Amino acid sequence: MENSIQQILASFDFPVYLAPMEGVTDRSFRLVCKEMGADVLVSEFISSDALSREVDKSLKKMCFDERERPFGIQIFGHDEQSLVTAARMAETASPDFIDINWGCPVKKVVNKGAGSAILQDLPKMSRLTAAVVNAVHLPVTVKTRLGWDSSNKPIVEVAERMQDAGAQAIAIHGRTRAQMYGGEADWSLIGKAKANPRLKIPVIGNGDIDDAAKALQCRDRYGVDAVMVGRAAIGNPWLFRQIKGLVRGQEIALPTYEERVRTVLQQLRAAASEKGERRAVLEMRTQYAGYFKGLYNFKPVRMRLVQAGTIAECEDILSSYSEF
Ligand SMILES: Cc1cc2nc3c(=O)[nH]c(=O)nc-3n(C[C@H](O)[C@H](O)[C@H](O)COP(=O)(O)O)c2cc1C
Repeated sequence: MENSIQQILASFDFPVYLAPMEGVTDRSFRLVCKEMGADVLVSEFISSDALSREVDKSLKKMCFDERERPFGIQIFGHDEQSLVTAARMAETASPDFIDINWGCPVKKVVNKGAGSAILQDLPKMSRLTAAVVNAVHLPVTVKTRLGWDSSNKPIVEVAERMQDAGAQAIAIHGRTRAQMYGGEADWSLIGKAKANPRLKIPVIGNGDIDDAAKALQCRDRYGVDAVMVGRAAIGNPWLFRQIKGLVRGQEIALPTYEERVRTVLQQLRAAASEKGERRAVLEMRTQYAGYFKGLYNFKPVRMRLVQAGTIAECEDILSSYSEF
């Protein structure tokens, strides 16, 4: 019998999710974050259309490591049949839960009526969510935004609707679709959805958590059951360790250069075994700025790193740096 989301979250003092991020949170990065203290991991979003057509890339995105548990597979779509088929396929990969993406703001997704577009048609959002819930045995959760734009922020109603549709938890990114990633996340509305006495399912708060103190403040101020960290973890998986440390009342020091290098190489090797060395090295280029942030005179090293083509070259370049 699978665990409910309530049970999963209850097994952590202060559950912290790594936010799903397409193109970033592949297995190699997720594992690094897990090692650093992220509790709950979610796959990158997977198109239900592509998954139900068994597109290889989408099938691969469902793969995860046992160490990643509790792990959710996230699907997005606009059509009931393909969402149901995709959810059933995701279930056969045996994650701990299925997550529906009702928050993606990207035009390509929204124009088809998927992601955050659904926030303009709440009855459809309820119907499609219920269809997925009824199609699988695993718990289903949803991830969404406050609403479509500044004149439409129905998140309190949305949360109730998702609960009524059978979703076991709701992750809320405190922005509207119109905001994309601009402005500031509005946590007060996340707090309002949580404070609704009719809402019994856990609320996972998301948006702009970029240090440990903020994670705890958001929990304490808005009463959320868990927080979800996205962009601030890119190139900074130590953030999870810092959050966990602060929960125990400890301030955790920044990683040493050696640890940063070890982590980068670990991620590179894991990514290479998944998708080939060339692609792993290319994709890592966007993360060096984060991994080596704040180091004295690191820029020339980074400039060389982003031209490297193999892991061995990266290793050589990294060993040439001296902090002093
Ligand atoms: C590069 C990138 C890719 C993303 N991909 C996804 C995705 O696949 N699924 C999803 O639900 N949200 C996705 N998001 C949104 C994040 O999960 C998160 O909601 C958002 O970044 C806000 O959290 P943050 O302020 O902690 O980054 C993505 C965000 C970024 C920056």
